[in-house]
Amino acid sequence: MTTFVYTSASPQEVEAGLLVLPVFEGGAPGPGVREAGLREAFAASKLTGKAGETLLIPRRDGDGFAADAALLVGVGPKGAFDVTAMRRALGRAAPVARRFGTVATTFPLAFGGARSAEAVQAAAEGLGLGSYRFGRYKTGPGDGADLETVTVLGSSRWDAKRMKAAAKRAAILVDAVCWARDLVNTPAGDLPPAAIADAARAMAKEVGLTCTIWNEKQLADKGFGGIVGVGKGSVNPPRLIELRYTGAGKATPIALTGKGISFDSGGLDIKDAQGMETMKCDMGGAASILAAMKAIALLKPKVNVITAIPCSENMPSGSAQKPGDVIHHYGGTTSEVLNTDAEGRLVLADALAYLAEQQPACIVDTATLTGACMVALGTDIAGAIGNDDALARELVHAGQAVGEPLWQLPLFPDYRRLIDSKVADIKNIGKRYGGAITASWFLAGFAGETPWVHLDIAGPAFSEHGNDLGPAGGTGFPVRTLVRFVLDRA
Ligand code: BES
Ligand code: ZN
Ligand code: MN
Repeated sequence: MTTFVYTSASPQEVEAGLLVLPVFEGGAPGPGVREAGLREAFAASKLTGKAGETLLIPRRDGDGFAADAALLVGVGPKGAFDVTAMRRALGRAAPVARRFGTVATTFPLAFGGARSAEAVQAAAEGLGLGSYRFGRYKTGPGDGADLETVTVLGSSRWDAKRMKAAAKRAAILVDAVCWARDLVNTPAGDLPPAAIADAARAMAKEVGLTCTIWNEKQLADKGFGGIVGVGKGSVNPPRLIELRYTGAGKATPIALTGKGISFDSGGLDIKDAQGMETMKCDMGGAASILAAMKAIALLKPKVNVITAIPCSENMPSGSAQKPGDVIHHYGGTTSEVLNTDAEGRLVLADALAYLAEQQPACIVDTATLTGACMVALGTDIAGAIGNDDALARELVHAGQAVGEPLWQLPLFPDYRRLIDSKVADIKNIGKRYGGAITASWFLAGFAGETPWVHLDIAGPAFSEHGNDLGPAGGTGFPVRTLVRFVLDRA
């Protein structure tokens, strides 16, 4: 695990494998470049300072800095540089930093005192997240050890106690996001619903959360027909994970839930080979809630949070649910399963009804729910849809603050009729178009009057090629948004 340190030591003195320094477009050296005696090297290098440019300078005798090497990183125009751009620039630099084992950076000094804590946190996050690797299944020498230490340099005028707290927050968030990534990256064969539940229980014990796991029999007895119905085709039985964080006595809690389909084959409406390739990611919603709860337990905000995370495996078999089957959800609503591949809404329905019954202040769900949302917003942006505009905007803003893009989509009233069923209360698919919205209408009935927002993370939960903040695979999206949302409510 990486250690995160804050210090106001000078860039020339700081001991590290790699010293990472920003340079701006137009030739302005960023903080630390002059102090480290690299002004001439920068000028001679012909770096333009455009985002994405880097120059690695190994230290030679007589150089003005103590690190083994310095990395100049182009960050674009000074006026457009913000903490999100900084997190991403350091994320891109992190794989190089990782080879050096320890890294220090002056990046936060590019921001004024008013934003210093936020900048220190984002810098640490960028280096921590960007150096993530999933090596569990690699034999042989692999590609080196984890980043050992991240040292964030600040000004002696800044409140060191506050900066150290910011570095600690970053450590907690990086750990949580990377755990979510690990859960998503773990092959479905090694992480069936019961194993997700085991991981949740172990985490809860470690950080001090209350944890209750429901097994398949208990779920059937209490009428969780969606979770049970989706899981019927698999030899790996379903689970419901209930976690509880109490930071504010008897206050009305925030409720969270996430789609935990350990593998989505489509069921009898089976996907094709390509469509199934990445479907171990279909518990990315559940992973994001588990990881957010881990971070919340460690950050200890003064709020209460309850969760109910449904985990099932969607498989075809002689015991699988069939197109045309009718499910009795928790609370009694019936749904007609016209497509077994629209399974996420079926398990979430039970969880939403169960949470709404406890009358929380609001419910947020995260789910790799629809390909339609990816058609609408692409791979990088999550859809936010709910029954309460202010709540949806709150999540969009939380995402904006932490650099996880969310875009609100409308719960357009006229589309509700697209899920009217001839035999049950509702059916689980709409027409060809507007799939992210009809899926949300399905969920909306189970949230009822409770303010609720659904985050469709089908695009950003899993990255095919990797991005600035991590390699290909699970991304941990939107863990940081969820934590920010909960902290802002405290
Ligand atoms: N898990 C998928 C959605 C998905 C697709 C997530 C690609 C990530 C990447 C979901 O269960 C699904 O199969 N949705 C169907 C719904 C349809 C049958 C109404 C879809 O989007 O095609
Ligand atoms: Zn799915
Ligand atoms: Mn599906």
